[in-house]
Amino acid sequence: MKLVIDGQTVDVPAGVSVLDAVNRLGIPLPQLCKDPDRPPLGACRTCLVQVEGQRGTPAACHLPARDGMVVSTTAPEVARIRAMVLDLTRSMLTDGDGRDHFGQVGIACDQHRIGAASFAPLHRFAVDDTKSFFVLDREVCILCGRCTVACDDVQQIGAISMLGRGHAMKVGVAGDGLMSASCCTSCGQCVATCPTGALRPREARARVVRTVETTCPYCGVGCGIAVSVRDDHRIALMADDVPGNRSSLGMLCVKGRFGSGFIHARDRITAPMLRRDGRWREVSWDEALEAAAEGFALHRGRFGALASAKATNEDGYVIQKFCRTVMATNNVDHCTRLCHSPSVEAMLAAMGSGATSNSYIDYEEAGCLLIVGADASANHPVIAVRFRRAMARGARIIVVNPKRIELCDQADLWIQQRPGTDVTLFNAMAKVLLDEGLANLDFVRDRTEGFETWRASLAGFELERAASVTGVPAEDIARAARWYARPQFGGSCLIWGMGITQHVNGIHNAHAVLNLSLVTGQLGFPASGISPLRGQNNVQGCGDAGCIPTNLPGYQHYVPETLAKFERAWGVRPPAEQALVVTEMVEACLTGQVRAMYVVGENPLLSE
Ligand code: SF4
Ligand code: SF4
Ligand code: FES
Repeated sequence: MKLVIDGQTVDVPAGVSVLDAVNRLGIPLPQLCKDPDRPPLGACRTCLVQVEGQRGTPAACHLPARDGMVVSTTAPEVARIRAMVLDLTRSMLTDGDGRDHFGQVGIACDQHRIGAASFAPLHRFAVDDTKSFFVLDREVCILCGRCTVACDDVQQIGAISMLGRGHAMKVGVAGDGLMSASCCTSCGQCVATCPTGALRPREARARVVRTVETTCPYCGVGCGIAVSVRDDHRIALMADDVPGNRSSLGMLCVKGRFGSGFIHARDRITAPMLRRDGRWREVSWDEALEAAAEGFALHRGRFGALASAKATNEDGYVIQKFCRTVMATNNVDHCTRLCHSPSVEAMLAAMGSGATSNSYIDYEEAGCLLIVGADASANHPVIAVRFRRAMARGARIIVVNPKRIELCDQADLWIQQRPGTDVTLFNAMAKVLLDEGLANLDFVRDRTEGFETWRASLAGFELERAASVTGVPAEDIARAARWYARPQFGGSCLIWGMGITQHVNGIHNAHAVLNLSLVTGQLGFPASGISPLRGQNNVQGCGDAGCIPTNLPGYQHYVPETLAKFERAWGVRPPAEQALVVTEMVEACLTGQVRAMYVVGENPLLSE
């Protein structure tokens, strides 16, 4: 449909607002309370327009565009009213250090030639600077509500809201306390949306010369972040979110939002260093590469590599290929060994694939989430938002965790098993499913094998015995099994973390939990699935690329035909045997079996 705005014609699709059409033309119209990625709030009344044939001055953000509309943003009457609104808005704000011309309010006032405010402020608020990364400066707040919506609707946290009424209204936390004493997680969603700088990073503003869109370097959620590069070549403290990113949908947690500053750490090494005679010294790249090559050549065959789960698939592929083709060893591993390699092993055996079966949206649409040994609120906060959205839709949440985690406060059922009793717990749940006719026998018949043997293996896992072994009441074990097998709507998602994999019997734990999904058929359709929550941002890719000693890239086995295939592709036949995992490599360093290591983006002394 076509609209005419300030004499210009614009073509827009159905369903957009007049403000969208104005923005499409690039006409500068204040829109202080409109977050570009959220529905309109209609709170600031600065986006006023005049429409031919229509009375009054409606807010463009709330006005649906219609074909043939003739709109003015500059008609004298609408300009006068908007200027008055802006003047009143400006009067809410007080000048001061760090207030940087009040962000979008300052820009709008400049456009409308509004200088000093016409009215004296009605209040004085102290700055709440109790958070590590940002401040809440209510002297620059226009009460637009963008921040509370971000906290409530986007992050589903509800740490802040509008307190008080009339002139006394302000943004604050429950009980009018300090931000630091609230349930605020420092995700910065509110800071990113605040149009005035009332919520702003604790960093002096600097000119941004470019913005780089990338992936958060922390956990396995894979959130999109947009990092700003300042004119002093440092990156800004706060990253922006990327609403188009399918993993994060514009959400971030404190790590992605404020955690990129480590690249400026004073002790970060930015040039090659070589240790000679017990002392480190900075050297040229040529000298460093020469020394590394010399050392590797000397110890060919007594070599191991640790790849990085924070590097790209291509990086991982190259390092494992280097090991297998140049160094003649399959001694290549990475942090998965201490994280989810038990899951991958079990999933490869049980499912034929070591990867998550569902997408994040399935969590939100599931009728039941069975969350085992994972503390998403602490480790994968953006996934925790998905869980909260599922709860809001009425999903049942079952937490299985010996440790009390934040999610326990909201869960429908918390199973607090004794550490080390996971297999008993899951097998007892499986037995309930079979005994109560809750198994999906069609799925079992069509998609599984070895069912009768497995069924027989559950003979000793009666509820009473499981209750005494695990310390979990029998009725809770049975209830969890029933809820998982028969969600109230949609399907059930099975989500697990390192709480069950970081055990000597981690693979058994993973098998036991996977069997629940197989016997109920709770995977392979929307709102269902199985997913290990991965630790690093590319631990899946690093394993897929072959940075594991147990398999070639793509989890292919060391069998003659596969080795021949790689030989054809690489020109060198990879070694035919499984090699040392990371823990064995470290021990081999002590015995001399490994004399040289290539460690990529890891700090094994600290984290492995
Ligand atoms: S930082 Fe996040 S949790 Fe804290 S108030 Fe803002 S949106 Fe809410
Ligand atoms: S703090 Fe910012 S986003 Fe929140 S109401 Fe005030 S001006 Fe709006
Ligand atoms: S942007 Fe339309 S009312 Fe605020």
